[in-house]
This record gives sequence, structure tokens and C-alpha cells, in this order.
Amino acid sequence: MKVDVLLGLQWGDEGKGKVVDVLTPNYDVVTRFQGGPNAGHTLEFEGQKYVLRSVPSGIFQGGKVNVIGNGVVLDPALFKQEIEQLEASGHNLTERLYISKKAHLILPTHRLLDKAYEMAKGAGKIGTTGKGIGPTYTDKISRNGLRVGDLLNNFDEKYAKAIARHKEILSHYDFDYKQELETIEKDWKEGVKKLREFIFIDSEYFLNDTLEEGKSILAEGAQGTMLDVDFGSYPFVTSSNTICAGACTGLGIAPRKIGDVYGIFKAYCTRVGSGPFPTELFDETGKKIRDLGHEYGAVTGRERRCGWIDLVALKYAVMINGVTKLIMMKSDVLDDFDTIKACVAYNINGEETDEFPFDIKETNFTPVYKEFKGWKKDMTKTKKTSEFPEEYNDYLDFLEDYLEVPIKIVSVGPDREQTIVRYTAED
Ligand code: GDP
Ligand code: IMO
Ligand code: MG
Repeated sequence: MKVDVLLGLQWGDEGKGKVVDVLTPNYDVVTRFQGGPNAGHTLEFEGQKYVLRSVPSGIFQGGKVNVIGNGVVLDPALFKQEIEQLEASGHNLTERLYISKKAHLILPTHRLLDKAYEMAKGAGKIGTTGKGIGPTYTDKISRNGLRVGDLLNNFDEKYAKAIARHKEILSHYDFDYKQELETIEKDWKEGVKKLREFIFIDSEYFLNDTLEEGKSILAEGAQGTMLDVDFGSYPFVTSSNTICAGACTGLGIAPRKIGDVYGIFKAYCTRVGSGPFPTELFDETGKKIRDLGHEYGAVTGRERRCGWIDLVALKYAVMINGVTKLIMMKSDVLDDFDTIKACVAYNINGEETDEFPFDIKETNFTPVYKEFKGWKKDMTKTKKTSEFPEEYNDYLDFLEDYLEVPIKIVSVGPDREQTIVRYTAED
């Protein structure tokens, strides 16, 4: 068997959590391969809403095993919070949530370093989620990180050394962190106790053995392709490889063992934090999308910036990931629009391009739009493709032609049930 990968094609928050939950019955194991609690994956079913940060979104259907892979960075304090919320709603995961010994730990000081670096950047700040993601991956790459497996052996000494090193760095910043550190550290240590209740594994062996046994795996991405540290709008990105290749390094799965690559996109575009956003709308239309789509961060509550769908960026993301099946989310948010626009090219300094440039200069840049007639129908109760209005099909057809990949699933509301499969499994 192979590992299917599901990932975001835009700037995150495409609806990955919802679709992983919907697809979970088709798989034996669900696993996260990168990112950490900067993610906020929302699932809704049976009138309940859950937001997952570090726990994979495959925990709610069929008692499946879920794995936090080596590419993930884990904050024990936030993990404990998340687990306790799940326990309170009747979901005990200690027996079937496995954690890679090689996953890196977000230390209390990583969060403070994130804050210090952002403050020092001033107006040029990234607008991070403040969860210590960048500093933790920095320590991983500079070979200073602590991993989950380190908890099993002489941990206190390693921890003290790391904290001392971080304090030294923090002393160079104009930031009185001491009190905050005390509070965070207390929660963090409680978190470690909780984390120790879980099964730590060599996840690369577990996952490869799972495939050998003929079982199937779904890998769940966090963030989105345009936030990838190599291919996103650098430096306004996250610090991990959010793309399909990240599933290989973040799980220990060989490239030839990757099967389908599900690419998720919204029928429009959003972005949280700073950085280029070619199709951003600053007018009433942008506000209307934000209001109708409830575009506020699942983790930070921050307003998401909104704009029309960007097919230049989307086609780039399809290429980088080798997407085999597309999934369109939140098209219901556009139900009431007379006209819908899709960016098909960028005009940069008078020249049109359909390639995503190295650097987008805000001046001398205009998106080139194609306009579509809105479908003007409440799609949220739609169950079958035969109920799709003609204008809706026209929009889908155009996207499929442009992106050269079939749109396999469309989502017309946040609930698990509001999901329509367009082709059968054989397609
Ligand atoms: P993720 O990070 O990719 O999992 O996405 P988020 O959970 O951060 O953001 C997606 C938001 O849209 C959540 O609030 C979902 O409940 C919601 N959502 C998902 N699919 C749909 C949809 O098709 N229509 C609408 N209206 N909301 C959706
Ligand atoms: P999910 O998985 C949207 C953004 C932050 C910031 C940049 C860097 O829910 O789609 P970081 O804390 O990672 O160093 O922040 O990346 N960002 C996200 N935006 N969805 C996410 O995750 C994000 N995770 C990080 O807003 O601009
Ligand atoms: Mg999210």
C-alpha cells in the first residue's frame, strides 16, 4: 500500500481538518508530518465543533490509530490542553495516538524567542502564531533540539542546558521575559507528565511496517504550500516543508511510496499574518467574504485577509506537490455573489505572467481576472452533483481546465455531511 497525502495549496486554513475527518474511514492510520500547534484544524459533526492543533484529524472516526510524525514540533503544555479537552468530550487517545520519538519538543523558551524575534522585526514582522515554531525548527536544523525520545533518558540535564542557552540569547533582547517564563515553564512541566502517558514509537518503522502489512495511511498536512519554507512567499512563511515532499522527510516514507496527493483549496483565498497576497481585497467584497466565511483564525482569532482565488499561485502549488486530486472548499461562501473572479495571470511592470515570481513588489503589480457569473443558489444543503447549478459547473470546469487536475470533492459547509464526491473511486 501507499501513503496518500492531503495538504493545503494556499496560505493555510483551507479546511484540511474537515476533509481528513471525512476521508478517515478509507484509511487504517492517519498521521501528521510537519508543523505544530501553529495549526488549527476545525471539524464539525453531530452539532459539535473541535479544533485540533497537534493531534491528527483522524481520531474521530472508527477508532483509528493516529501518529504524530518525526517532522512535527510538539509543545507538551498545549498538547495537554488539547488532550484534556478531547478527554472531556469522551475521546481518550492514550492507546491509539502514537508519538514519534524523533518529533522535536517546543520548549518554553522557544515561545519567548518567537516573541523576541517578532518584536525585533518591528514593522517587518512575520505575524507568527507565537507558538515558538521558528525557534524550535531553528534548533532542530542547528542540531541543538530536544526530541520526544530525549524524555526517556537524562532529560533534566539536557533541558537545563537548552534553557540556559536560550536565556543567553534572550538577554540580548529588550524584553523582560522572566515572569512569563516562570508561568509557561510550570504548564510545560505539567504537559510533559501528560505526554509521558502516551506511547512513544520509532514511527518510521511503524509506518513502513503498516504499509508492508497492506494497510493504508493518510498523511495530513498543516499550513499550506504558500507558507512552505522553500517554496512559499519567503520570508513570510512557516519554518517547515508543508509540501508533499515534507511527508517523506516528516514520516520516513520513501517518495515511491506516496500514492494520491489531495490538494485542498478554498473557492477564494485567505491569509493570516504578514506577507504578499496578490489577490487581496481591501474593499466591501473582501469584508463580505470574511463575514460569510467566518474568516477568523482558529488558533489566534486573528482576522484573516481575504481575496479572490489565485490560480497562478494554485497552479504553482499543484506543480510543486504533484497533486492528483483537488478538493474545493467553502464554495458556499460565494453563493450570494453576482460575479465571481479568478486571477489567471499577474501583470508585473506591464508584462503578463502565469508563473509565481521570486518576489512580488506591491507597486506595478496587478492581478488579471477572469469573471464568472455567480450561481446565486444556497448550496449548503446540496447532496448530489446533479443539483449543481450550471454556473457552478462552469466555475468547476474552468478550474479543472486551468489546473489540469480533477476536482474530486467539493465542500459546501463546515459539517462532515456537507461534502460531495464528484467522481467514483475508480476515476
Ligand atoms: P484547516 O486549518 O485547513 O483545517 O482549516 P481551518 O479549520 O483553520 O479553517 C477552515 C474553516 O472553515 C473552519 O472553521 C471550518 O469549520 C470551515 N469550513 C470547512 N469547510 C467549509 C465549507 O465548505 N464551507 C464553510 N462555510 N465552512 C467550511
Ligand atoms: P493551518 O494548519 C494559516 C502563518 C502565520 C504566519 C506564518 C508563520 O491551520 O492551516 P508560524 O507560527 O508558523 O511561525 O507563523 O504562518 N501560519 C498559518 N496560517 N494556517 C495555519 O495553519 C498557519 N500556521 C502558520 O499566521 O503568517
Ligand atoms: Mg487552520
